[in-house]
Amino acid sequence: MQIMVTGCAGFIGSDLCEYLLAKKHEVIGVDNFNDYYDPNVKEFNVSEYKNNQRFKLYRVDITDRVALWKVFDENNIEAVVHLAAWAGVTESIKRPKVYVDSNIAGTNNLAEFGIQNSLKNFIFASTSSVYGNNQVPYKEEMNTDYPLAPYPATKKAGEVLLYTYHVNFDLNVTIFRFFNPLGPRLRPDLALPKLVRAAEYGYNFTLYQGTDSARDYTCIDDMMDAIHAVLKKPFGYEVMNLGNSDPVKLQEILESVERVTGKRIKIVKGYRPGQMQITAADISKARKLVGYNPAVTLDQMVEKYFEWFIKQPEWYKKGEESWMK
Ligand SMILES: NC(=O)c1ccc[n+]([C@@H]2O[C@H](COP(=O)([O-])OP(=O)(O)OC[C@H]3O[C@@H](n4cnc5c(N)ncnc54)[C@H](O)[C@@H]3O)[C@@H](O)[C@H]2O)c1
Repeated sequence: MQIMVTGCAGFIGSDLCEYLLAKKHEVIGVDNFNDYYDPNVKEFNVSEYKNNQRFKLYRVDITDRVALWKVFDENNIEAVVHLAAWAGVTESIKRPKVYVDSNIAGTNNLAEFGIQNSLKNFIFASTSSVYGNNQVPYKEEMNTDYPLAPYPATKKAGEVLLYTYHVNFDLNVTIFRFFNPLGPRLRPDLALPKLVRAAEYGYNFTLYQGTDSARDYTCIDDMMDAIHAVLKKPFGYEVMNLGNSDPVKLQEILESVERVTGKRIKIVKGYRPGQMQITAADISKARKLVGYNPAVTLDQMVEKYFEWFIKQPEWYKKGEESWMK
């Protein structure tokens, strides 16, 4: 099957490309290598598989309609896994326009060109942050009209826009609301890589919320299997949480990293607007529809990440002070 993966040079996209190539699919990767974080990291992410015979890389911005049309025209794309986005809650409050352009207009371009090219299956990466201040555990049918920042607002807009492509053009659409995935090539701006770099290289770790704030960390391998299940068997229109249903306090992940690295982490205090205190998924729908069954503990996820991290080149492991913001 020929599958377009947008955001192929990012954290989840690069892991997904590797996963799909191992399953012998043809992958059309699209990414503009933007500077939300160091583009060298993105070059590094794709370096593992960019020469694979079944992989084609397009350095294309999904808001560039001429360039994006060419990608559809030159290929025979049966499914799109749309991961390209400006992610990150705090940055979206500072720079809402880039989020609106990439996450809403870019999503529309993909769906519009998709239906004009007989696309059969569209999988969209949404986020737990659409739930805003709802009570945990979050269920898919909850009201998500009150997100706390432009980033989740653009994701909610993408979900709703894609619904209209489903009702008007019969496009099969599955929305996955991701909850803090952990795995190789994690974005440098996320908590686990920052904690590991702080432990290994003595950087300060900035605590933006209390150590009792909690996240529903999710193993990326389980997410890949769920995406693959929908690639094999599309739904008409479904929204599904992909979390772990087991929120972990920041204090626990901090202690886990100290245990795994054998080093202490220096903490300083900071503040970030738009953050949720806790995220936790009700995953009964994904269990039922795609056989999703997460079973990996936080310690196992941290150990696995660290095992991968220590094998990477020194420039990547050490990173830069600016990656710790
Ligand atoms: N990592 C998480 O914790 C998390 C949680 C919930 C949802 N998500 C969603 O999952 C997806 C992947 O997230 P990630 O953590 O891998 O982020 P990432 O920033 O590592 O990857 C996103 C990629 O998309 C590319 N991109 C952004 N705008 C683009 C555009 N206009 N044209 C082409 N490429 C563009 C970026 O260059 C980047 O490589 C995103 O849609 C994100 O919103 C991530």
